[in-house]
Amino acid sequence: MQKKITKAIFPVAGMGTRFLPATKSVPKEIMTLVDRPLIQYAIDEAREAGIKEFIFVTSRGKSALEDYFDHAPQLERELRKKGKTELLETLAATNMESGAIAYIRQHHALGLGHAVRCARRLIANEPFAVILPDDVIAGEKPCLKQMIDAYEETGGSMVAAMEVPMAQASSYGVLDVKEDMGSIVSVKGMVEKPKEGQAPSNLAVIGRYILTPSVLRNLRNQDSGAGGEIQLTDAIASEIEQGRNVYGFRFKGQRYDCGSKAGFLQATVAFGLARDDLRDELAEYLDELQASRRAAE
Ligand code: G1P
Repeated sequence: MQKKITKAIFPVAGMGTRFLPATKSVPKEIMTLVDRPLIQYAIDEAREAGIKEFIFVTSRGKSALEDYFDHAPQLERELRKKGKTELLETLAATNMESGAIAYIRQHHALGLGHAVRCARRLIANEPFAVILPDDVIAGEKPCLKQMIDAYEETGGSMVAAMEVPMAQASSYGVLDVKEDMGSIVSVKGMVEKPKEGQAPSNLAVIGRYILTPSVLRNLRNQDSGAGGEIQLTDAIASEIEQGRNVYGFRFKGQRYDCGSKAGFLQATVAFGLARDDLRDELAEYLDELQASRRAAE
């Protein structure tokens, strides 16, 4: 029996420069896929995986995130007065139990590993999850839930993994596979953003992690790595060097890289098409668009 995972860290301190000018005043995590902010997808996934404590590692300019998960008494009063029960229900999904969310500031942008370490006092000595809200994963069973179920069997630390084209491997953390057991692979090394031609495989780390507390201890002494930043990948790789087990998990589901504009647009279309109230109109428009593009060729 593994210790239950009840805490998740959401690193949300990044400046989101790829989405400027929008992110000049709106945190990237509040940008919406259809009508729900990116962060809502991450929180829902965590909740469905049994997470009870949500730790946001934030930075200056991210207070919209705190407001988003707060009650909005005036808005709720207005909706109630007008009998808009459906909208009230929609809003209820954004309400978190008092004390369930903690916000910690990352005062210096020193990298993902540093962001995770900022939450160490709230994690103390138990395994925990990390969710990167940029990676939106659509699947029948939430990705983190799939991982927690697999972790029940394996223990150790586990990262979500997905095959990517070799040419893109340098944009990711990449796994050096020891033994491939299908959905679970055991890992003998990890490299963050390998140089071209140096990736040990094309199995890339995607933004879901289950980590043992020893990773936090490794982060204390972690030198800066790729891009001059303190990398979470390096601290997990140290686990292997210290003789502890690390696994990759090939999740079932479609991952969208919402940290890139193209990925964000693809997710918007896919989530729109998945909605009963939008599907027909959107599909018709996409067909028309394709037909007119063909005609112009
Ligand atoms: C981060 C991690 C990287 C991982 C990626 C997945 O990189 O450092 O290991 O492969 O997320 O999205 P970033 O995309 O923040 O540069």
